[in-house]
Amino acid sequence: MKVDGVSYRSIWRDAASDEVRIIDQRWLPHEFRVAALNTLEEFAGAIRDMWVRGAPLIGATAAYGVASEMAKNASDSHLDHVHAVLNATRPTAINLAWALDRCRTALRPLPEHERAMASRQLADAIADEDVEINRQIGLHGLSLIRDIASQKPAGEPVRLLTHCNAGWLATVDWGTATSPMYQAADAGIPLHVWVDETRPRNQGALTAWELGSHGIGHSYITDNAGGHLMQHGLVDMVITGTDRTTATGDVCNKIGTYLKALAARDNDIPFYVALPSPTIDWRVADGVGEIPIEDRPATEVSHIQGRAPDGGISPVQVTPEGSAVGNPAFDVTPARLVTGLITERGVCAASEDALTALFPDLARA
Ligand code: MRU
Repeated sequence: MKVDGVSYRSIWRDAASDEVRIIDQRWLPHEFRVAALNTLEEFAGAIRDMWVRGAPLIGATAAYGVASEMAKNASDSHLDHVHAVLNATRPTAINLAWALDRCRTALRPLPEHERAMASRQLADAIADEDVEINRQIGLHGLSLIRDIASQKPAGEPVRLLTHCNAGWLATVDWGTATSPMYQAADAGIPLHVWVDETRPRNQGALTAWELGSHGIGHSYITDNAGGHLMQHGLVDMVITGTDRTTATGDVCNKIGTYLKALAARDNDIPFYVALPSPTIDWRVADGVGEIPIEDRPATEVSHIQGRAPDGGISPVQVTPEGSAVGNPAFDVTPARLVTGLITERGVCAASEDALTALFPDLARA
């Protein structure tokens, strides 16, 4: 996507230095900063401390981390070490383990002297595949948006609601939930997107920044506003991303997603999830019982970061001294509340049968 007229992916290899570069998302939407990742600790820290974030981007970053390390030491023991260090950075998004397992499985049979080049090619392939998967998700989601638009008077916007940032910043490009929005806007369909702020990290501000940069109409709303807007007929469709979806269609996504799905069901509003296939955890059937939910630092809740009038970006405390704080970062929306999954191979029901029919080559036996 373009930033000030320049095309970016969220992670790339710098042509001149060959360094891996990322957009340091901690500073957005206020400042656009690029950072280089070179050491294992830098890769791990960038994932853990959310310089990069979003399930697909976490996976791609891990793959680039493996490639960076294999260029220094391609032994079996270092491969295992890199896998373990990166896999321990965040527990919920399955794309991390998916990418690391894919790298290790591909590299292990190779002689050590071939591993640096092979891991480099694999990281690039994982990034390129993510871009294409998301483009396809966008095309399938576009059909859903087009259907809604066709039932409205000409020129009236389709009103979407999204939670968190499942945008191009959370992937390598296009985004998952935002890809249908970008493609609909590019096709000339008027849109208005209700963007949940998504406390505590306010990823909604990233979504708002993305949509604004693409010229898509949107309103940034508090996390609790969605139900009210739905009751008043102001939302046509909800689209969110996912960090891990079970083989049975339970969707784990940013904390607060479940409440939006409940409100959507109560108001007969379609609730869709944009789902790239690497985000399916085929080994898990019960999302609520089996998916580990990340507990993030208390300071993310007790403090809120923004730009001060003097231009500085710093956190300010919003809680009283001494209050205990809880910060579960994800929740699970049961499959029964999900209208459909928008995958790169088409839209399907949130069920094991439907996912297996669409991905027979990936489904568990
Ligand atoms: O904690 P984050 O910012 O890494 O979480 C990302 C999300 O939960 C997003 O909602 C997204 O849907 C999943 S990645 C496309």
